[in-house]
Parts: sequence; C-alpha cells; structure tokens
Amino acid sequence: MSFKIGLLGLGTVGTGTAEILLSPEGRHPLVQELEIYRVGVRDLSKPRDVQISKEILTTDLESIATDPEVDIVVELLGGLEPARSLILKAIAHGKHVVTANKAVISRFAEEIYDAANEKGVYVMLEAAVGGGIPIIQPLKQTLGVNRIQAITGIVNGTTNYILTRMQNEGADFADVLADAQKLGYAEADPTADVEGLDAADKIAILASLAYGGRIKLEEVYHEGISKVGAADIAYAEKLGFVIKLLAVAKQMTVAPNEPELLQVRVHPTLVPKQHPLASVSGVYNAIFVEGDPIGQVMFYGRGAGAGPTASAVVSDILNIASILKIISQSPVPSPQSPVPNLHPLLA
Ligand code: NAP
Ligand code: HSE
Repeated sequence: MSFKIGLLGLGTVGTGTAEILLSPEGRHPLVQELEIYRVGVRDLSKPRDVQISKEILTTDLESIATDPEVDIVVELLGGLEPARSLILKAIAHGKHVVTANKAVISRFAEEIYDAANEKGVYVMLEAAVGGGIPIIQPLKQTLGVNRIQAITGIVNGTTNYILTRMQNEGADFADVLADAQKLGYAEADPTADVEGLDAADKIAILASLAYGGRIKLEEVYHEGISKVGAADIAYAEKLGFVIKLLAVAKQMTVAPNEPELLQVRVHPTLVPKQHPLASVSGVYNAIFVEGDPIGQVMFYGRGAGAGPTASAVVSDILNIASILKIISQSPVPSPQSPVPNLHPLLA
C-alpha cells in the first residue's frame, strides 16, 4: 500500500520534509510507503536543494488540494492565504491535512476542524508549535487527564536565537536577525517573530488545547523584543537574570469567590538565571507545563529549522498513514466516519 502526499510548499520545511520522505532507510518502515506525488510551489525555475522530479512540480496548488489521487495534503506555504483556502479545499475533497501553519490554525481552527469533522478527515499540526518538540500530541493525549495550571514557554526560535547572541556576544540585533533568516528560522515576514505575534499564535493554540476553549488571538497580549537593547541585557545580567521572550497561559484567581481567569500573554521577561528556562539558548525552545497531578514537565528541543520541523511534519503524516492502514486492513469496515473523536482544537 502506498500513501500519496500532495506537498504544498518546498521552502525550508518543505525541503526538510521531502528529504526525510526520500531517505526512508533506518526510519519507521511505513516511511517507505509514503510517496511524494505532487509538489506545489510559486516559482518553477527556482533551484531546489532536494531531488524532486520537475514533472511533479506545479504552480497550480488547487489542483493538488483537489486531486483525487492524493491522500494527504501537507501545507507548508506559510501566511494566511492561499494556505487557509487550500486546507479547506483539501478537506472538502476528503483529504487528510498536515500543516505547520500556526498563523492559520490560531485564527481559523474552528472553521477548519468543523469542516474536518464533517468530512471525517484528520488535521494534524505538531510542527506548528515548538518545531521538532512533541507538544501538541502530549497536551491532547498524554497529559489530557491533568488540570493544567500554567504553560510557560520559549516558543519562538528566531527571537531566542537573537537574544542569546546579543547576550553572549554583544551581537547587533539586525545582524543576528539576518543570520536567523539565512538559517531558515524566521518567518517570510520576520515581523511576526520579532514583535511576538508568532509566539502569540503558538500560545493561543497551546492554551486552547490545554483549557479546552477558544482562545481568540486578539485577546492574547503580545509584545516582542524589538525594544530590548544592549543596556537592558547588561542590567539584567548584573541583577542575576536573563531576558527571554516568554509565552504564558495561566489560570489566575483575581478575587476571593470569583471564578479563575485565564491569562494568555507574550512579552520579554526577566528570568532568574537558575530557572530551567534561563539556560534555553539559541534556536532551542522549551515549554514548561504545570499540571495536577503531574506537577512540572518541560519539553525541550530545536524550535525551528528544516530538520526538526520536518521531523514533526513527517510524524504527523506517519500517524495518519498508520491509522489509514489499520482501517484498510480491518475485516469489517466501519459504516461510520473513519475518524471518530477528532480533537476539537477550539471547540
Ligand atoms: P518558506 O521557506 O518561505 O517556504 C514557503 C514555500 O511555499 C516555498 O516553496 C514557496 O514557493 C511556497 N509558496 C509560498 N506561497 C506560495 C503561493 N502563494 N503559491 C505557491 N507557492 C507558494 O517557508 P518555511 O519556513 O518552510 O515555512 C513554511 C510553514 O512552516 C510556515 O507556516 C511556517 O510558519 C511554518 N514553520 C516554519 C518553521 C521554520 O523553521 N522555518 C518551523 C515551524 C513552522 P517557492 O519555493 O517557489 O518560493
Ligand atoms: N519563525 C518560527 C520561529 C519558526 O522562529 O520559531 C518555528 O515556528
């Protein structure tokens, strides 16, 4: 059996994803059954860092989302449009979807999950938060029984890379941002990274999963690192702190006998040097979860870049493919949707 993948985007993450799919040796055996069937890009003449036959490249992205042969559409375009419309089109045509697009999910999860539930298809987004770090599945499943008290994370690789180099080398903000862009960490428009909006998208998604409600992006306070200067970093150092861009979702009691409120925010923060988040440097991300009864758990790893992010994308593809395989081998086909209990991300 093979599963046909329609890849939308062959940039940093798309190339990393294609590299994994084209080198199945030593990986999960099911990777051999994943076929890159068609790839959608903007510019057909661009040189590519991965060996993809020119015949499967197209600029007609809609034809991939609607192709009857495609089983799983993998959206790695970035931005809101045409990404959102293509995801919806793919779902309407019965395709399972994998996406790394936190901007689309944080704004349109309800519309996307409603459509997916109606069609009985999966939408998976592990790569949308924390690059290669597993955090979406753990929050949905492994930690699902916990009452989550707080999530505190460094969830943007670009800004953590910038702050680390400003702190360790006295590097200039603009120079380090240019390096982060060259390394493929930054968004196509790095304003989203630098001004905290990318982290706001991510914490809105995590908070929605952890607290089971719809966290509206416009209700998430966000402030980036563009006003953090060398003097701030030096004063923080003298006082025993480092400056980190933290994304926080926390349940708080504001007054006795009043219900708890959920606060969701992103801003530069003075973190004591002995706190586990203080030593998270460079492109690394970490997500510190406090729950009852689990206590404290920290998820740590590379939060951006081709390889780590593609690892999360392909693990989502594999999850879907393995379920499809089990269903196809089941002696009694279910009369119902093949996807019961799709997690309502923003129910
Ligand atoms: P990227 O390097 O800019 O690549 C985007 C790809 O999409 C390119 O191949 C581009 O085509 C294609 N594309 C974009 N708009 C298009 C359009 N309108 N029509 C046709 N093709 C279009 O982006 P990326 O860094 O891989 O990011 C992709 C997604 O992953 C984004 O949602 C991002 O937030 C997310 N993400 C990125 C990282 C990371 O470390 N980079 C980590 C986690 C999540 P051309 O190649 O022809 O220009
Ligand atoms: N631009 C994002 C970051 C990519 O720097 O964290 C990973 O989501």
